[in-house]
Amino acid sequence: MTSPVLLELSAVAKTFGDQVVLAPTDLRIEEGSFVAIVGPSGCGKSTLFNIIAGLLEPDTGAVLLQGRNVIGATGHVGYMLQKDLLVPWRSVEDNITMAAHLTRKVTDADRLEARQIAQKYGLGEFLDHYPKALSGGMRQRVAFMRTLVTHQQLLLLDEPFGALDAQTRLDMQRWLLDVWRESGRTVLFITHDVDESIFLSDRILVMSPRPGRVVADLENPLSRPRDLDVLTDPTFVALKSRIMHLLHGGER
Ligand SMILES: Nc1ncnc2c1ncn2[C@@H]1O[C@H](COP(=O)(O)OP(=O)(O)OP(=O)(O)O)[C@@H](O)[C@H]1O
Ligand SMILES: [Mg+2]
Repeated sequence: MTSPVLLELSAVAKTFGDQVVLAPTDLRIEEGSFVAIVGPSGCGKSTLFNIIAGLLEPDTGAVLLQGRNVIGATGHVGYMLQKDLLVPWRSVEDNITMAAHLTRKVTDADRLEARQIAQKYGLGEFLDHYPKALSGGMRQRVAFMRTLVTHQQLLLLDEPFGALDAQTRLDMQRWLLDVWRESGRTVLFITHDVDESIFLSDRILVMSPRPGRVVADLENPLSRPRDLDVLTDPTFVALKSRIMHLLHGGER
């Protein structure tokens, strides 16, 4: 099963001052896949996303989306930033239509879509509420819906569930897998949680400490759909052990 390559990075590197943050990095992401990225804090994961999203230009290298150079361009990905806070004085509905609000006038169609998506994912009753009236998990879902209604094929999610408790996080992971399956999008997902990276992904990229580079590109052999039992599956445990060794030394 090979899908077309959606995103291709070649020899992308970035230095801030005298600090090399990203060593030349190559990456190929297939359309429709779910790829997790794990790596130590400060190794350049968010920097990599900022480069892909066009918010930051690399010093060298090429970034191609569907074969098109996107360096320095914006508006071609759905990006959920690491600290994706909702706008507190806007309702759930107005937060979901935020991208439209920033780039053009919000139309009736935008509002209808926001209402439909909120309804579909269990937040229909909260459309008129403000973020402070929502739980942490609900806020994350709204932030994610805002990313989804950009209608971009590629979604960059930077530790979207990092601030959630374990129970809510598990609910959100299962919810995300449902949305991913239904929407046919391609997901790049940064996380510090190795279990999460395996539970969600088709592939896991492990990065080294700064200067960050991809030290391992691991296929995830676990079949889908996945339920809680995979967490104790020997394949899961072996993959987890491999990633932990790559991250914390004791290479094997
Ligand atoms: N705009 C910037 N100017 C200067 N230095 C920066 C800038 N953005 C990031 N850095 C530095 O680059 C390094 C990598 O940052 P980055 O945010 O990409 O790490 P990360 O892997 O996402 O870390 P974390 O897991 O903690 O989120 C850090 O040392 C950071 O201080
Ligand atoms: Mg980061």
